[in-house]
Amino acid sequence: MQGSDHWENVYRNKQFDAVSWYAPHLSESLRLIQELCPDSTASVIDIGGGESTLVDDLLRSNYLDVSVLDISATAIDFTRQRLGSKAQDVSWHVGDITQYDFGSKQFDLWHDRAVFHFLTEPAARSAYVELVRRSVKPGGHVLMATFGPDGPLQCSGLDVVRYDDKSLHDEFGEGFQMLGSEMAEHNTPMGTRQQFLYCWCRA
Ligand SMILES: C[S@@+](CC[C@H](N)C(=O)[O-])C[C@H]1O[C@@H](n2cnc3c(N)ncnc32)[C@H](O)[C@@H]1O
Repeated sequence: MQGSDHWENVYRNKQFDAVSWYAPHLSESLRLIQELCPDSTASVIDIGGGESTLVDDLLRSNYLDVSVLDISATAIDFTRQRLGSKAQDVSWHVGDITQYDFGSKQFDLWHDRAVFHFLTEPAARSAYVELVRRSVKPGGHVLMATFGPDGPLQCSGLDVVRYDDKSLHDEFGEGFQMLGSEMAEHNTPMGTRQQFLYCWCRA
C-alpha cells in the first residue's frame, strides 16, 4: 500500500492537534457539504478523513449515511475511539484511494480535503478520478480542497501539487460540471497560514 508507512508513522508519533492540517472543525467543508447536500439521507464520504472532526460534525448535523476512508488504520482507529458508540453509524474504509474499490456503493457527495494534492504522479490522479467516476452517483457532487496557487509546496515532508480552479477541474475533465470555487486561509497549529482552494462540481 503505497504511502501507508509514511502516514502510519505520522499518526503514531504526532498528537491529533499537532499536525499542520489540524483544525478543530473543518468549517468550510461542513458548510459547503450542507449547501450542496442539504438532505440528511444523502450519502457522504470523506476521503482521507484522518483524525479530523468532520465525521463528528456530519453525524451531529444528522447525516445518516456517512463513510470515511483513510490509508492509515491508526487514524481510523483513533477517530472511531473518539466517536465511541456513534462510530457504529459510520462506514469505515482503510485503503489507498488510488487503488480502492467501493464495489456497487455510490455516493451523493465525495469530500476530499488535502489528499488529492499529494498525488504527484499522473497515473495516480487518473486512478483517483476514475474511482470518482464510478463511485459518485450521476448528478452527485464532488467537493475538493487542495492547496491553492500560493499554498505550500510540501506538506508532511511530501511534495504536493498546487491548484487553481481551472487546473483542478482539468484533472477531472469534461464528465464533471464545475459549479463553484473559493479560496480559504488555514491557520496551522504552528502559527503559519496556508492557502486552500475549495472547488466543487457535479458528476
Ligand atoms: C493532510 S491529511 C488531511 C486529513 C483530513 N482530510 C483533514 O483535512 O484534516 C491527509 C490525509 O490523507 C490520508 N492519505 C494520504 N494519502 C492517501 C491515499 N493515497 N489514500 C487514502 N488516504 C490517504 C492521510 O493518511 C491523511 O489522513
